[in-house]
Amino acid sequence: MKLIVSGQIRPLALVSALVLVFRSLSDCYDPMDPNGNITITFDIYKWTIDGYMARVTIQNYHQYRHVEKPGWKLGWTWARDEVIWSMSGAFATQQGNCSSYKFQIPHSCKKQPMILDFPPEASPENRSEDCCRGGLLSSWAIDPSKSFSSFEIQVGHLEGNSTGYAPLNLTLMAPGPGYTCGPVIDTEPTVSSDIGGRREVQVFRTWKSTCTYSSFLANKAPVCCVSLSTFYNPLITSCPTCSCGCKEAGPNTSSCISEGAALPQSDALSDTDVVQCTDHNCPIRVHWHLKNNYLDHWRVKLTVSNYNYKRNYSNWNVLVQHPGFGQSAMAYSFNSSVLPTVGLEDEVALFWGIDYYNTELLQADKDQLGSVTTEILLKKDMVTFTLGNGWAFPRRIYFDGESCQIPLPDKFPVLPSGSLSLNPIPNLFLLLTITLTLKLVNSWL
Ligand SMILES: *[C@@H]1O[C@H](CO)[C@@H](O)[C@H](O)[C@H]1NC(C)=O
Ligand SMILES: *[C@@H]1O[C@H](CO)[C@@H](O)[C@H](O)[C@H]1NC(C)=O
Ligand SMILES: *[C@@H]1O[C@H](CO)[C@@H](O)[C@H](O)[C@H]1NC(C)=O
Ligand SMILES: *[C@@H]1O[C@H](CO)[C@@H](O)[C@H](O)[C@H]1NC(C)=O
Ligand SMILES: *[C@@H]1O[C@H](CO)[C@@H](O)[C@H](O)[C@H]1NC(C)=O
Ligand SMILES: *[C@@H]1O[C@H](CO)[C@@H](O)[C@H](O)[C@H]1NC(C)=O
Ligand SMILES: *[C@@H]1O[C@H](CO)[C@@H](O)[C@H](O)[C@H]1NC(C)=O
Ligand SMILES: *[C@@H]1O[C@H](CO)[C@@H](O)[C@H](O)[C@H]1NC(C)=O
Repeated sequence: MKLIVSGQIRPLALVSALVLVFRSLSDCYDPMDPNGNITITFDIYKWTIDGYMARVTIQNYHQYRHVEKPGWKLGWTWARDEVIWSMSGAFATQQGNCSSYKFQIPHSCKKQPMILDFPPEASPENRSEDCCRGGLLSSWAIDPSKSFSSFEIQVGHLEGNSTGYAPLNLTLMAPGPGYTCGPVIDTEPTVSSDIGGRREVQVFRTWKSTCTYSSFLANKAPVCCVSLSTFYNPLITSCPTCSCGCKEAGPNTSSCISEGAALPQSDALSDTDVVQCTDHNCPIRVHWHLKNNYLDHWRVKLTVSNYNYKRNYSNWNVLVQHPGFGQSAMAYSFNSSVLPTVGLEDEVALFWGIDYYNTELLQADKDQLGSVTTEILLKKDMVTFTLGNGWAFPRRIYFDGESCQIPLPDKFPVLPSGSLSLNPIPNLFLLLTITLTLKLVNSWL
């Protein structure tokens, strides 16, 4: 037993070093969603006297990153002196200077139009096919049917008989900064089917741009942290202190409010998040409780708590990286799916709410935090499963696509030394101890 305890130190140090490396890498490339992007497509389907008609589609290909309230905002720079004669399914925020038009007045004459989505209740004359989601886009893994939005524009005022110039410098706010869009390039025309799939039709011309996300550009304050507990140790490992920043000294400067204190007037703080004061100061905490160890299964209770007094999280999602998801897993009160990943050793599972039940993570009130919770039953892989070395704790957790601060391995709840009661079968325990010891000896040599 002594050997095992002292042997634990090296693997743990290694794990924390790896955690640090992963954190710094995660800004440019996300191994849990290597192909994630938002693609903007301009499909020109009709020529007009002085320009063209185009359908613009914003498709979110991210597995778990959605576009939330207040929704996307798309902008570009016209290559020439184009104007937007009319639009449906979305609108330009500014008309700009259309003073040189005497008869028909364009929808927008801005050199750099900014486009916003209509709400779902937009009137029929302003709608187009697949439009009007209030700027919200689901993530690809959760609901592909709501992961895109389209609108139509009639572009005019092109010189001569030109077939159009691709817009330049696309910008996408979804909803804040964080996205960088590549150049708009000519691609194969989009093909769709007709006559019940027996005929293919294609648009005249297709331009595409791919926008990628960087949390460094988004420059968001951390929003989330993870706490841990187990059935075998009464100690709870709380979130790392100051995970989401520390309170400034002084009575006034903090944006957090002590539990039970009177809330400020609603209009005074309408735009800022007001969270309950805690040691971590995060608006969101994810708690992983290792609940039971059965013969061939183990059970975890996952709870997401909202410390915000003025913010509900609609269509929230939680991503968990853990080797245990390689076996079948069942979440009782969340919807879930295991994501395809490339080059990651551990499986990644995505959890989200069940319609009409818990898709909304409500704000905290005076008496309690907002929370959603589920139990997850995981099948054991007899070879890899262990309660030792922090194996049963998650490797990484994201809330709504933002990485959560996890306690360092040296703070994980430890197994009580020499306790046999943890095990469903003594034989198995022996086997596990032997494999564990062998593994440790191996990694030591
Ligand atoms: C964008 O995502 C789609 C779907 O995952 C993928 O096919 C495409 O290659 C991606 N584009 C880029 C430029 O990565
Ligand atoms: C509006 O555009 C016209 C013609 O393009 C120009 O003469 C005029 O100065 C512009 N007005 C403003 C306020 O920019
Ligand atoms: C529809 O669009 C017109 C102008 O394009 C606008 O005046 C009207 O308010 C819009 N309707 C709705 C419900 O937004
Ligand atoms: C217009 O079309 C004619 C013939 O189709 C072509 O010769 C001419 O170069 C075109 N002009 C422009 C500005 O594209
Ligand atoms: C587009 O962006 C590039 C790089 O930021 C800049 O050099 C160029 O002037 C921009 N073009 C237009 C038309 O705004
Ligand atoms: C503290 O708050 C009070 C009332 O909200 C305000 O009058 C005072 O100027 C604030 N003090 C500082 C140092 O900001
Ligand atoms: C959050 O949801 C609750 C219940 O639906 C609602 O009463 C509250 O106003 C919402 N809060 C915000 C900030 O929208
Ligand atoms: C789970 O999510 C899928 C995809 O969004 C959906 O089709 C299904 O109805 C959801 N199941 C429940 C129980 O909400």
